Amino acid sequence: MLDEDLQSIYAARSRSITQPKPRNSSQGRRPPRTSGVGRVVEDESRLKRAFSAPGLADEDATHTLPQIRIGICAMDKKARSKPMRAILDRLISFGEFDIVHFGDDMIVNRPVDQWPRCDCLLSWNSEGFPLSKAQKYAALRKPYLINDMSMQDILLDRRRVYRKLMESGIPVPTHIIIDRDGLAENENPEGFIETEDYVEFQGVKIKKPFVEKPADGDDHNIYIYYPHSMGGGVKKLYRKVENKSGDYDPKHPGNVRRDGSYIVEEFLTTGGTDVKVYTVGPRYAHAEARKSPVVDGKVVRSADGKELRFPVLLSPQEKEVARMVCLAFGQKVCGFDLLRSERGKSFVCDVNGWSFVKNSVKYYDDAAGILRSIILSAIAPHRLTAPPGPMAGFATPPPGHPAGLTQWPTSPEQMLDDAANDQFDDDR
Ligand SMILES: Nc1ncnc2c1ncn2[C@@H]1O[C@H](COP(=O)(O)OP(=O)(O)OP(=O)(O)O)[C@@H](O)[C@H]1O
Ligand SMILES: [Mg+2]
Repeated sequence: MLDEDLQSIYAARSRSITQPKPRNSSQGRRPPRTSGVGRVVEDESRLKRAFSAPGLADEDATHTLPQIRIGICAMDKKARSKPMRAILDRLISFGEFDIVHFGDDMIVNRPVDQWPRCDCLLSWNSEGFPLSKAQKYAALRKPYLINDMSMQDILLDRRRVYRKLMESGIPVPTHIIIDRDGLAENENPEGFIETEDYVEFQGVKIKKPFVEKPADGDDHNIYIYYPHSMGGGVKKLYRKVENKSGDYDPKHPGNVRRDGSYIVEEFLTTGGTDVKVYTVGPRYAHAEARKSPVVDGKVVRSADGKELRFPVLLSPQEKEVARMVCLAFGQKVCGFDLLRSERGKSFVCDVNGWSFVKNSVKYYDDAAGILRSIILSAIAPHRLTAPPGPMAGFATPPPGHPAGLTQWPTSPEQMLDDAANDQFDDDR
C-alpha cells in the first residue's frame, strides 16, 4: 500500500517538473495539473485547500507562497516532547509550513468534524489516544499522512506485528503464538505441549531459554525462562522503574503463563546489547545500542542521568530491514528493536511506531530536512527547488534542503537523491 503511495508521489513529482514554475502569486495559487490517478487527485484537492486557506490574502502583496499546514494529532505529552519541539521548530524555520497542534481537549472531547483541517497529518497512538477517532478524521479529511493511521492498529498486538513482519520477509525470532482469545481461563489451545525444557505448538518446538511476550503490545511484562542447565528460574522484565527494568526469580517453577495470549520465542544471544532503530522515511535510519534489560535489569546511566547509548553502524542487511519495516507498516517515522544475534544475522523483535531519537542535534536536523522533502514531494513538489528558507536553529544544513547541497539541484528528483545520499550516514 505504501509502495503505491510512494509510486503516486513519484508520479506526481515527475509530472510536476514538466509544469512551468509559478512566476507570481496568482499562478502560485494554482495547484499543478495532476489529473489521472486517484491518489494524485486527492493531492490536488488538498492543494486547493492549502492554496485557498483563509488568512492568506496578504500573500498576494508579499508574493510569497502560501504555507502548508501540518496538523499534529497526538497526546500533548508526546506532541510537545523535547524531540518533537526540536524537530517542529526546525520545520517552521524553513518558512514553508505552519503547525496546528490539535491538543488533548480537542482530540479527546470534540467530534472529528470539529478538528482543525490540515494538508499533512502527523498522528500516532499513545496511552489515552482515541485511535479509531483519529482514523475517522484521516478518512474524512484525507490529509497527507506521514504515518498511516489504519495500520496503527497492528502495532497494538504483537501477534499482528510478527505476522506483518513475516509476510513482509523481515526476519523475526522463531516463535509460536499461543492464542487463548475465546478460551476459558488456564485453557490451552489444542495441540499445545509444555514440558520442563520446551513448549511446542503446531509442529514448532521452542526450547529454553525462551522469551514469553504478552500479545498486548502495551504490556511490557516479558518473561525469560531458563533451562535447568542454566540454573532454571525466570527473569521478569518490565517498564523501567528508576534504575531497574527486570528481576530474576530463581524459584519460579518455569511454567508458562496461561492467563491470556502470548508469543513464545527463541532467546537470541546478542552479547548484551539491543539496537534501537529510528527511521524517517524508508531511506533514513538512525541506530543506537543500549544495554539489554536481559543482562541484569539494571539501567546504566551517564553522569547527566540519561540512559547510556552507543553509536551503531547498521550493516547493509539491517539498512534493508529498516527500509522494509518502514514500508511494511506504512510508518515513515518508526522506531523498532533489532537483536543482533551472535549467529551473524539481525532480527526484529519489536516495532513501536512513531518514535524520535532523544538528545541528538544531528538527528533533529536530519529528521526535519527529510520530513520537509517528504511533505513537499507529496503535496507541492514544485516547491522542493524553491530558494532556502531562513534555517534558523540548524546545526548543519539538513539533507534535502537546497542549502545543504554543494550544487544547486536541477530537478526535484535530483534533490531527493542528494538528500538520500546522506540518509544512511551513520556517523552519529
Ligand atoms: N527473542 C529475544 N531474545 C533475546 N532477547 C530478547 C528477545 N526478545 C526481546 N528480548 C529483550 O527483551 C527486551 C524487551 O522486549 P521487547 O522490545 O519485545 O518488549 P517491549 O517491552 O515492548 O519493549 P519496548 O520498551 O521497546 O516497547 C528487548 O529490548 C530485548 O533486550
Ligand atoms: Mg522494545
